[in-house]
Amino acid sequence: MTLRIRVNAQEHDVGAPALTSLLDVLRDHLNLTGAKKACGRGECGACTVLIGGRPVLSCLTLAGRVRDEVLTVEGLGPEWAALREAFAEHGGFQCGYCTSGQIMRAVALLRDGLPADRDEARQKIRYEMSGNVCRCTGYNGIVDAVLAAAP
Ligand code: FES
Ligand code: FES
Repeated sequence: MTLRIRVNAQEHDVGAPALTSLLDVLRDHLNLTGAKKACGRGECGACTVLIGGRPVLSCLTLAGRVRDEVLTVEGLGPEWAALREAFAEHGGFQCGYCTSGQIMRAVALLRDGLPADRDEARQKIRYEMSGNVCRCTGYNGIVDAVLAAAP
């Protein structure tokens, strides 16, 4: 079947089986490989993208059911440069496999806003990003990076 999908401000018509996941459409049909396939079953967050501004696990999302615009890490504008740089500066990644998912989850979190109190903000980051697994960093660098990028 042909799926019509809007990703990073561009319309695409994709020929794919009806049950194709959004992650497979992004990676295999649109060559957007920022979202990663790790567990493939909703357990790690490496495939996180935004749909209509909300974070979703693209491995569990049927591409044919997506109605709102998809934003992937490739579509982040210069307004998110500080977040990307903060990940590098604070050791928010090592192998990088989880990083695009972490960043997309952090984008949604920062758009929602963090508490002014730094301890509360740190707690909120840890809670909200607990579905994004990282095997390398021990998480402190990720939390520090998101905190540093908060306005
Ligand atoms: S690849 Fe989607 S949650 Fe792990
Ligand atoms: S940086 Fe390697 S899994 Fe997170």
